[in-house]
Amino acid sequence: MKFTQFLLRNSSIPKQALVDRFSKFSPSPLSMKQFIDFGSANACEKTSFVFLRQELPVRLANIMKEIDFLPDKLLSTPSLQLLQSWYATSLMEIVGFLEKDPDDKKILKKFTETLVNIRNRHNNVVTTMAQGVVEYKDAFGSDPVTNQNVQYFLDRFYMSRISTRMIMNQHSLIFDGSANPAHPKHIGTIDPDCAVTEVVKDAFDSSKMLCEQYYMTSPEIDLTQVNAKGPDQPLRIVYVPSHLYHMLFELFKNAMRATVETHEMALHLPPVKVRVSLGSEDLTIKISDRGGGVPLRKIERLFSYMYSTAPSPVDIDNSRNAPLAGFGYGLPISRLYAKYFQGDLQLYSMEGYGTSAVIYLKALSSESVERLPVYNQSAIRHYQTSNEADDWCMPSKDPKKLGKFSSST
Ligand SMILES: Nc1ncnc2c1ncn2[C@@H]1O[C@H](COP(=O)(O)OP(=O)(O)OP(=O)(O)O)[C@@H](O)[C@H]1O
Ligand SMILES: [Mg+2]
Repeated sequence: MKFTQFLLRNSSIPKQALVDRFSKFSPSPLSMKQFIDFGSANACEKTSFVFLRQELPVRLANIMKEIDFLPDKLLSTPSLQLLQSWYATSLMEIVGFLEKDPDDKKILKKFTETLVNIRNRHNNVVTTMAQGVVEYKDAFGSDPVTNQNVQYFLDRFYMSRISTRMIMNQHSLIFDGSANPAHPKHIGTIDPDCAVTEVVKDAFDSSKMLCEQYYMTSPEIDLTQVNAKGPDQPLRIVYVPSHLYHMLFELFKNAMRATVETHEMALHLPPVKVRVSLGSEDLTIKISDRGGGVPLRKIERLFSYMYSTAPSPVDIDNSRNAPLAGFGYGLPISRLYAKYFQGDLQLYSMEGYGTSAVIYLKALSSESVERLPVYNQSAIRHYQTSNEADDWCMPSKDPKKLGKFSSST
């Protein structure tokens, strides 16, 4: 009897055994090309099913192993307990398909329904996790080692979630039999011919509407685009428009808020400058505002989950009515979306003047490959590093000491 059969037939075997088993496999990152092939004319639901019933448990189990490294007091919060129960249930549901016949149409239909259920069950993972972290921080404070571990974990945890949602969405959208009438050329969530500047304009308009509602005013856009292949060539890449929209919307909200708040008394708001450029390797989008900037010392903190503010229950219920500033996950989650297909998101700021946020994406679909966390010895080592002394000298804060030093030399 195969090990999985044995596990499934023995309900007394704890779920932990499943987690242990699947976490021994490394996740298999997919390239944009593979995503497209899964969904093009020769799309095969059976192949996708056989891949996903193994790959999803592997991705879930890999990250579930890392959840165990969080501080005990964080793990015991009601939020984390709930979250872990979602992961365990979803893992069990998919593993239930391992011994099923891939040629049975009913099984394939049931699998797609299960994926949709799992996606819905996990809808509030980010806010639930954020709430757990805030409860923990409020009750027990935070120290640099915990901060570092939670940051390391959450970047991996949310990246894992982006990836599992991506592969579940692709399968359910492609094989539920209903093509997307608004976007017949899309393959699931992927646009093989994504017009980047159109997404820029959409995200800008939505953010502008929100800004108008809140501040009664908003800056204009100053958009230019450059294509290395020629001035009239369109700027198109293979990408997931919803991911790109998410990043741009977050960056525009931040840029608009900073612009309006630093020019409260001004009659004219400086526009938000957007430059889009397509080279042979990178598609780069630079969003520059004149919103007063952020000091260098604080830049890293803007990407920190532990520094963010509490999501109030009202925010969670109305998560669709995103306000201009929420609980501080805009930048870190946007950076994860950029990194997911081997890109990046960076902030360059000039305190007193303004900020430029730059999104880097891969221009070639052959280089757009999922970036996935893997549970291994290096990951474990990250969680186990203790608070070691800094290997750079700290400037003394005691002015008398400095005086003594200089007088004796
Ligand atoms: N362009 C900018 N100019 C000045 N400050 C900025 C800019 N972008 C971000 N910030 C600062 O960084 C903080 C974190 O930004 P982030 O988008 O991650 O969270 P948020 O805007 O506070 O909330 P939300 O989760 O709704 O995005 C902001 O609160 C703001 O103080
Ligand atoms: Mg924001």
